[in-house]
Amino acid sequence: MNKPIYIFFGTMTGNAESLAQGTYDKVTKMGGVAVLHNLADFNADSLAELSGAALFVVSTWGDGEPPTDAEEFFAELEEKSLNLSKISHAVFGLGDSNYEHFNAFAKNLSARLRELGSPELEPVFTADVVFEQDYADWETRLLAKIGA
Ligand SMILES: Cc1cc2nc3c(=O)[nH]c(=O)nc-3n(C[C@H](O)[C@H](O)[C@H](O)COP(=O)(O)O)c2cc1C
Repeated sequence: MNKPIYIFFGTMTGNAESLAQGTYDKVTKMGGVAVLHNLADFNADSLAELSGAALFVVSTWGDGEPPTDAEEFFAELEEKSLNLSKISHAVFGLGDSNYEHFNAFAKNLSARLRELGSPELEPVFTADVVFEQDYADWETRLLAKIGA
């Protein structure tokens, strides 16, 4: 595999981070190249410079908001008219269906990425409080699609 797989996470209490880290470890153990970023440390602008595939693992907080650390990234993504046609994506959302705005950030992120021209590897997955098996299945599907 030549191109890296980009793995992004947005988290408040670490769930999304540990899942994303697990995928990073898996890809690199298989001999692939992966790049892991906390959305807290990533500029939306830089997405337009990437090509290949990006996986986003994000939770939803507050009243359907991004995790605090991902707010700046998402505000920038909403604001800028970037061309993301070279970087395809899939979003795995972590949420809790007891909340009114179930997985709202994952859905909003997915919608904005599509709006900016990023091809969707599969529709946004909205996981509930028990997410481990869903994530394992999603990861297997996506890594197969990407060819990792
Ligand atoms: C105060 C609070 C607010 C939350 N708000 C939402 C919400 O609006 N929508 C939702 O789907 N989940 C909501 N959740 C559930 C979290 O997204 C869920 O626990 C997730 O697994 C956290 O992942 P993280 O550790 O990566 O941040 C909320 C949880 C807490 C504790």
